[in-house]
Amino acid sequence: MNNHPIGIFDSGIGGLSIFGQISYLLPNENLIYVGDTAFLPYGTKSRDLIQDRAHKICSYLLSKHCKAIVVACNTATSVAIQKLRANFSVPIIGIEPAVKPATQQTRSRVIGILATEGTLEGEKFATLKQRFGNDITILHQPCTGLVEMIEAGDLNDKKLHELLKIFVLPLLECGADTLVLGCTHFPLIKPLIAYYAGPKVTILDPSIPVANELKRQLELKSLLLKEESGMYTFFQTGTNEQFEKFICKELGLEPILYSLNI
Ligand code: DGL
Repeated sequence: MNNHPIGIFDSGIGGLSIFGQISYLLPNENLIYVGDTAFLPYGTKSRDLIQDRAHKICSYLLSKHCKAIVVACNTATSVAIQKLRANFSVPIIGIEPAVKPATQQTRSRVIGILATEGTLEGEKFATLKQRFGNDITILHQPCTGLVEMIEAGDLNDKKLHELLKIFVLPLLECGADTLVLGCTHFPLIKPLIAYYAGPKVTILDPSIPVANELKRQLELKSLLLKEESGMYTFFQTGTNEQFEKFICKELGLEPILYSLNI
């Protein structure tokens, strides 16, 4: 089973930030990536729809014999991971906003979380706030529209810069010195976020801990692939023309991108 692939999915290109860390940490592993672009964005969709999409994608990945699945999406993790773990027996690794590390690093004792509505309204985030928000102010900013702008791929788009000002500057005005990227799309524009946040603000991206957790779980179950392989396959359910370009840009790969109808 060790040479079976690892499945990774997100609503779109956001999970490529996690894919990159996984391929770096576990270069031997075969990876299958699914971007559910036909249903993007997840952040404003109903729980039922996201749970249904997550179930369909995981069923597809298991039909490809995946030995583990990474939900490379904060929104889908928040809404669907419990059900996925109840329904499928392979290890399923999720992602959540890095609230704990942020509370450990902040000096101003004010942190800002940038995420989708779905993530910020979910129980998981409420629990994180309760656990770590005792003596720290946790500000949260729903970033409506940002995921679509990132998928469109034009980093010079005025609207994207306007949105970033609207989302980032109020957090700084309230004293945040640490910003958490609570959506896997946001690391793809980290330099722009850092530009508006300024040099004194720390920006946390949780993709490294997710890759580490995947490695830990595979090690525990003796599922790591020892010999060199590293075959990568990409699918999208919709028709984002930028998808292939993003894979080239983010991962330095010339991918074959398949269309997936599920
Ligand atoms: N990248 C995803 C996340 O981490 C989903 C964003 C969306 O589709 O709204 O939340």
